[in-house]
Amino acid sequence: MESVSGHFNLHNFKRYRRLAVVLCSLAVVACSSDQGPSADSEQAAAVAQQLLAKGAGADGKALYQACVACHGDEAQGNQSLGAPSLRNQQSWYLTRQLQAYRSGLRGSHPEDSYGQQMQAIAKTLPDSEAVDAVVTYISAMGSQAAAATLSGDLKRGADYYSNLCGACHGPAAEGIELLQAPALAGVDDWYLERQFIHFRDGIRGANEADKYGYQMAMMADSLPDEAVLRDVLAYIQSLAD
Ligand code: HEC
Ligand code: HEC
Repeated sequence: MESVSGHFNLHNFKRYRRLAVVLCSLAVVACSSDQGPSADSEQAAAVAQQLLAKGAGADGKALYQACVACHGDEAQGNQSLGAPSLRNQQSWYLTRQLQAYRSGLRGSHPEDSYGQQMQAIAKTLPDSEAVDAVVTYISAMGSQAAAATLSGDLKRGADYYSNLCGACHGPAAEGIELLQAPALAGVDDWYLERQFIHFRDGIRGANEADKYGYQMAMMADSLPDEAVLRDVLAYIQSLAD
């Protein structure tokens, strides 16, 4: 993880150095009048700083550079780092999760080491504008199903899925925004397995203030065991296009 935070700091450092260079040259222009430095030049620099900060905050591509080390340059994910593909997820869900990490609703449980990592990164996104910009950038990559890594009894998985999950996640596991239940088809199955177990064990969604996580946590008792969970996840992956 050392190299990841190193990479991130370097990126921030470059951004601020660029900002500093621009602000210095603005100051030189403003100060070269006979009157010397005036309140106006200070004001101009303050406005420029605001605009530049806003510009950097709205550049989804630049912001995404802080995500590459774990999620990959095409948001394809990296199983060895526990970082899922972000490609088959709807933008409303990506946005809501980033906000949940930023506010600490997600990724605060002491046993949720992956969630904690992601929370630390999400907190570096300065505002909602930055969240929207990075999500827009990811969504523009288009959807692409992650490769299946689990196998199971598809028939049994289909039965459980349609009885217990489909009402919220949709008949084809495509997600239902109205219920804030995300797409599951095409999302990494190893990642969904970990999330489901975290919901079941009170590591995610245990906080009632996390309205949607809490709803899902209440459902996570409904499967009898992890073999059935794998059947359900294998079935879900069979629905991905
Ligand atoms: C240090 C590695 C790392 C970096 C850098 C990183 N992530 Fe993550 N991300 C993760 C891990 C690990 C998870 C899974 C967390 C969990 O299990 O709760 C995750 C989960 C997510 C999720 C939740 C997906 C879902 O389906 O629930 C989103 C959204 C996300 N990351 C977006 C981003 C964005 C945007 C950036 C860049 C601003 C970023 N990540 C940078 C490691 C990282
Ligand atoms: C009452 C509606 C509801 C039902 C029924 C339901 N879910 Fe969910 N599920 C949700 C909501 C809402 C979320 C989003 C939680 C959040 O925002 O943290 C979610 C999230 C998830 C996630 C995490 C996805 C991610 O990208 O992090 C998994 C995995 C999941 N559900 C699996 C299932 C399975 C399997 C079933 C059936 C056994 C099921 N759900 C039944 C509402 C439901």
